[in-house]
Amino acid sequence: MHHIRLDSDTDFDGWRKAARELVLADVASADVTWTVAGDEPELFDAPGAGAFAEAQAPFAQPASPTQPSLPSAASPIPNQTFNVPARFVELAKTAILHRDPQRFAYLYQLLWRLRANPELMHIATDPDVVRLQAMAKAIRRDEHKMHAFVRFREIGREPKSRYVAWFEPEHHIVELAAPFFAHRFADMEWSILTPDLCAHWDGHKVAFTPGVAKSMAPSEDRLEETWLTYYASIFNPARLKTKAMQAEMPKKYWRNLPEAALIKPLIEDAERKTHAMVAAEATAPKKPQRQEQPMTKAKHSGDTLEALREQARECRDCDLWKPATQTVFGEGPSHATVMLVGEQPGDKEDLAGKPFVGPAGQMLDRALAEAGVDRDKTYVTNAVKHFKFVPRGKIRLHQKPNTPEIKACRQWYERELATIKPLLVVAMGATAAQSVLGKVTPINANRGHLIDREDGPQVLVTVHPSYLLRLPDADAKEREYARFVDDLKLVAAHLKKAHAA
Ligand code: URA
Repeated sequence: MHHIRLDSDTDFDGWRKAARELVLADVASADVTWTVAGDEPELFDAPGAGAFAEAQAPFAQPASPTQPSLPSAASPIPNQTFNVPARFVELAKTAILHRDPQRFAYLYQLLWRLRANPELMHIATDPDVVRLQAMAKAIRRDEHKMHAFVRFREIGREPKSRYVAWFEPEHHIVELAAPFFAHRFADMEWSILTPDLCAHWDGHKVAFTPGVAKSMAPSEDRLEETWLTYYASIFNPARLKTKAMQAEMPKKYWRNLPEAALIKPLIEDAERKTHAMVAAEATAPKKPQRQEQPMTKAKHSGDTLEALREQARECRDCDLWKPATQTVFGEGPSHATVMLVGEQPGDKEDLAGKPFVGPAGQMLDRALAEAGVDRDKTYVTNAVKHFKFVPRGKIRLHQKPNTPEIKACRQWYERELATIKPLLVVAMGATAAQSVLGKVTPINANRGHLIDREDGPQVLVTVHPSYLLRLPDADAKEREYARFVDDLKLVAAHLKKAHAA
C-alpha cells in the first residue's frame, strides 16, 4: 500500500507529482491512500516525484532529481511517458477543490484508467468521468455562490477602514474565488474569513492565512441598516417565486446574509401586498414629458433655500429616496454668482448630507483652488438629490441616474436656480449637462466655452471630477485634470468680471 500525504486540501501540484509517479510505477488506485497534512497522524512520508511526460497539459513537468523517491514497490520508470488529455487536467484542477475526502482517489482512478484508454474523457456516461464532472460543477456553483453572497462589513472608518466578510464555502474554493473580489473591490482593503482559509487584499496582492472561527468576524456595521432598507425596497412581492429564490439562495447561506432576517417576513407579507396591488385601481400612465424643457426662472421665485431644503427632504417623486440615507440638497451662499452642478451624491455625501465631500469633492476642491475659484463663494448642488446605488457585498456601488430620475429631480434644480439667480451655471458631467440644458448634451463637443441661453444664465459644460478619478493612466489623468482646471479658469475669469462690473 502507498500512503500519499499532500500539503493542503488544494495541493494540486502535490497530487499531480505523486500521481504521475504512481502511474508510471504501475500502482493501481486500490493500492494508494491519500491524506492531507494535518488531517492524519504524521505516520507517512510524502511521496517523491516520478517522471512521466504528457503532451497537452502541465503533467509534462520534469521530475526533480532532489525529490525523495517512492517506496521501492513503486519505483519510477524514468523513460516512460504518458500523455494526459488537457481536458482531464482542467477537470482535475477544479474537482480537487471538492470537500469529498475521496476526491484524490477518484482522480487517481480516472488517471490510471486513462493510461489504458486515452479516449475515456469523451465517454460521457463513464461513471468516473460523470462523478468528477459533477464534482467540478459543484465547485463552480460554490464559487458563484461565494461571489454572490459574501457580505463585507466595515471595520474602522475612512481612511483607515477595512472590509471584512465571513463566509462558509461548501468546498475548498477560497483561492479560486479570491481573484474575483480583488478585481471587483480593488480599491478597498478587505479580508474574507472562512473556517478553512482566509483571503486578504491590501490593494496589491491577495494573501492567504489559515481559517478562523466565525467569532473573529464583525457581526454588524454602520451600513447594516441602509443595506436592509435597500433590500426591503427592491423586494417586489408580485415577482416572488419562493422556489426559484431558494434555489438561487439556498437556506444554508442565509445565516451569513444580513438581509436573510427580512426574507421570511417579506415572503409572508408578499401575498397580502400582491392582492392589494391587484385590487388597486389601475393608474393611468404618466404623460411623456417633453425632452427639452425651458429653464424656468420666474415660476418658483419667492422660495428661500431653507424652505426648499425642507421640502426636498420629503421628496418622493422617484424611488431613489427609498434606500438613500437622506436628500442631499445644494449648499452655498444664497446669492452666489456661480452654481456648480454635479450628477448625484455619492456614498460619502449620502451619509454626510452635503454635496461633494467625498473623493470627487476633494478633486473638485483642488481644481477649483488651482483655477482661482473660491468654492465658498459658489453654490454647489447636484442634478439628482438622492444617492443611487446597488449593494455589492456590503459596498454601495454608484449607479448612473436614468432620464426619468433626472426629470423627476429637475424641479429642485429649477427652484434653486430661481432662488439664487446665478450668472453662470457649471454643469459637470453628462447627467448635469442633461439636467441643466434640458437635453442630452455631449461633453467634449460643448466644453471649454460659455454657452449663452435665452431663458437663463450662461452655462459652462465640463467633465465630472470623478471621471478624472477613474482614468487608469497617469498621463491621461494629468492631461484631463489640466483641461478641467482650464475650464474652471473660465469660471474664475467670469467671477472677476462680474465683481468688477
Ligand atoms: N459626485 C457628484 O456628482 N456629486 C456629489 O455630490 C458627489 C459626487
